[in-house]
Amino acid sequence: MDKKIVAHRLINWYNHHKRDLPWRHTTNPYLIWLSEVILQQTRVKQGMPYYLAFTEKYPTVDDLALADEREVLRLWQGLGYYARARNMHATAKLVHQQYGGTFPDSYAGLLQLKGIGPYTAAAIASFAFREPVAVLDGNVYRVLSRIFGIDTDIASHAGKKIFTTLANELISLEHPDIYNQAIMEFGAMLCTPAKPQCMFCPFNDACIASLTGRQEQLPVKSKK
Ligand code: ADE
Repeated sequence: MDKKIVAHRLINWYNHHKRDLPWRHTTNPYLIWLSEVILQQTRVKQGMPYYLAFTEKYPTVDDLALADEREVLRLWQGLGYYARARNMHATAKLVHQQYGGTFPDSYAGLLQLKGIGPYTAAAIASFAFREPVAVLDGNVYRVLSRIFGIDTDIASHAGKKIFTTLANELISLEHPDIYNQAIMEFGAMLCTPAKPQCMFCPFNDACIASLTGRQEQLPVKSKK
């Protein structure tokens, strides 16, 4: 598969099939961060009402930072993993107190923040600031391992390196934000873990997994 056409096909697919989601209509780093925290381990359908409730009650990171923790946890009720809500509140306080309520405006700057890891930093940097840094989540590993037929263990150090390098070679420099949304949406909607919809896939002429019938064997992930 020619690397140059991957982004083009993903973005074209996305433009026709994307879901209309509220956090895709903003470049506000706080709102993007909030959506990504809520969506870490939570499905879009379940996370949506929480995103709407949090943005209504705490429209800025300062509002969230100054909120009573019990109130934050009450609004989080039903999402589970309460450590996530506590960490979210702690990060908001840090941005409020040490950054004057303004998130750093680069991938490197965001990574300095305790509580923000590589995935979240890439999501904020690309969606808010259009920095061309690729997101890597379960969707991205699945899509890339299948199209390129990569069977290196995604839980291994070598695997992480291979996929990170490849993802950053593929990212559109013109539309890094749309590219990142597109590959995640493609993994969530079409190139699904079980029964991917290869019949309707824009890569079905070239996808190594599809051509060799290995869709459900990829990606390879060792249990750790
Ligand atoms: N899951 C995590 N981030 C997402 C996003 N930006 N859009 C849809 N689903 C997501």
